[in-house]
Amino acid sequence: MTAPNQTNANVAGGAVSTAAASGASAAFGAAPASGASTASAADAASAPAAAVVERPLTHFRSMPLSIKVNGEIVGPTDVPVGLMMIDYLHEYLHLTGSRLGCGQGICHACVVIVDKPDGTSEEVRTCITGANFFHGKSIRTIEGHAKRNEAGEVVELSPIQQKFLEHFSFQCGYCTPGFVNAATVLIERLKREPVAKDKVEATITEALNDHICRCTGYVRYYEAVKEVVLTTPGLVKDAA
Ligand code: FES
Ligand code: FES
Repeated sequence: MTAPNQTNANVAGGAVSTAAASGASAAFGAAPASGASTASAADAASAPAAAVVERPLTHFRSMPLSIKVNGEIVGPTDVPVGLMMIDYLHEYLHLTGSRLGCGQGICHACVVIVDKPDGTSEEVRTCITGANFFHGKSIRTIEGHAKRNEAGEVVELSPIQQKFLEHFSFQCGYCTPGFVNAATVLIERLKREPVAKDKVEATITEALNDHICRCTGYVRYYEAVKEVVLTTPGLVKDAA
């Protein structure tokens, strides 16, 4: 994988020519020097253009990044320090399923799942988390949930994805990757720590609570997750 060309952007933003500076002076109505004649102005107009003076380019500091993404190790790749994870996923790995919504850490459309060494998993927002935070970590994106054949074609959805379809949980679908990841983290947690039946509804509400759906599909997302929780063996324990 290749890094986007930073140099072009830097040149566009950083180089200023003396000719341009002179032009700016004129544009701001600078008066000619005292005693300057019309003839000398004409001579100046016909003189060769001043040489372009390049300012030093801005160099971003970069760091090598290696991540396990959906079971495959990618990198090491040099990425600029401060590059947000969502941009790394989109621009370096071409995994565009994670959605950039608010870009401010509020809507949770951009979350990925981080699989921790202790066997637990958690959601992390990629619009406000730098790619370097994920160095050495194992993550799952929305592209990693369904089973695929050798040609990369989806042959089986995950249980959460399947139930979201059956319940018509989403409309535009922009928030759906985030909801799939949130619900998957919940199901995985309940496999480790089953919840009492009378706590199921509150537990689902809490797990999905941070995710914003602009099409207001909350109830159908909720119903789909509840069906998965209640029909998957081992997620709900009997009341003591
Ligand atoms: S896009 Fe990341 S929280 Fe909204
Ligand atoms: S389905 Fe459109 S934002 Fe949720």
